Amino acid sequence: MITVGVVGCGYWGPNLVRNFDSLPEVAVKLVCDLEPERLARMAQLYPEVQVTSDYGDLISDPEVDAIAVATPVHLHYEFARKSLLAGKHTLIEKPMAASVEECRELVKVADECNLRLMVGHTFVYSPAVQKIKEIMDSGALGDLFYISSQRLNLGLFQKDINVAWDLAPHDLSIILHLFGELPKAVNCQGKAHVSEGIEDVTNITLDFPNGGYASIHSSWLDPNKIRNMTIVGSQKMVVYDDTQTLEKIKVFDKRVEVPPHYDTFAEFHYSYHYGDIFTPYIKQVEPLKLQCQHFVDCVKSGNQPFSCGRTGLSVVQILEATSESLRRNGAKVELSEVMRPAGARNGKQKFITEGI
Ligand SMILES: NC(=O)c1ccc[n+]([C@@H]2O[C@H](COP(=O)([O-])OP(=O)(O)OC[C@H]3O[C@@H](n4cnc5c(N)ncnc54)[C@H](O)[C@@H]3O)[C@@H](O)[C@H]2O)c1
Repeated sequence: MITVGVVGCGYWGPNLVRNFDSLPEVAVKLVCDLEPERLARMAQLYPEVQVTSDYGDLISDPEVDAIAVATPVHLHYEFARKSLLAGKHTLIEKPMAASVEECRELVKVADECNLRLMVGHTFVYSPAVQKIKEIMDSGALGDLFYISSQRLNLGLFQKDINVAWDLAPHDLSIILHLFGELPKAVNCQGKAHVSEGIEDVTNITLDFPNGGYASIHSSWLDPNKIRNMTIVGSQKMVVYDDTQTLEKIKVFDKRVEVPPHYDTFAEFHYSYHYGDIFTPYIKQVEPLKLQCQHFVDCVKSGNQPFSCGRTGLSVVQILEATSESLRRNGAKVELSEVMRPAGARNGKQKFITEGI
């Protein structure tokens, strides 16, 4: 049995509690929040779970094996560090921390203490993303040309991070998983309309070492909830709509073919191939449940989590580059070799391409 504590019971923390509570080999012992109403709600939902407003109660409890941190981002580092130093395996919600420096320190502490450190990149655990990866790895898409992603809705406005830091970690973690490498350069443009200095709409572009390209549009100011990703290959294309319940993925047998020989400009024309549209079967499981299960499995086995601290660090490196690009009005920011985490070789990171 793995005993878990959760700190932060606002919007997301209760989802972690619900999913951990649903796992047969897990006991949620303690939850922590500063707000008495949040604690009262948790006590009502889970009468067997103890509630506290003092994080010290979680880290000093010898029965607690692991802690999940679901507080605002500026507290991730402090709470995760205390958790690791108290000997607890630690799951931090995305983004891992507020700076690369903080992430590096957490990775170091987890390594030194030989504890599992995992980041809540929830969607890399989703069956839909796993299916897309499987299709890509089979070679069915041909060469990967580009990925375009949109994550838009009205709210939830954050006070300590902009929309890129809030929403793009999901797109970034999926894109890094699909490309299997880190980008070499990042551009980001955006605007703050509602809260001064906190961009509520951003557009990120990523250039990959092998010629791949990706764009991510994030917004808290859109009338529609959109969770859309298009993956364009030389042979086929995939559209992933996470708002759909049953048909999340469609594979389009569409491509552009350039004629190999032509003598005159009149003979030159592209031909467009239109084939079938295929909807693969996707198992309906909540990605967060798979994330929680994976964390518990890693705590039990001692294996490194798929979305480990180093993966979280990679995502935060890119987010820092987006902030730098925003400061420079959208200029290209190179992710220099110096910024690459230990273990990365030739822009490729083993942990990103390893299976779950
Ligand atoms: N994986 C996902 O899909 C996903 C989705 C949403 C949010 N998140 C992440 O979850 C985290 C929390 O986001 P949220 O939307 O729930 O935020 P929130 O503001 O709704 O909740 C944060 C909670 O932390 C509590 N808190 C603040 N300071 C505290 C302290 N010192 N001690 C104890 N509790 C404290 C607050 O009272 C609040 O209830 C963020 O990192 C966010 O990015 C992840």
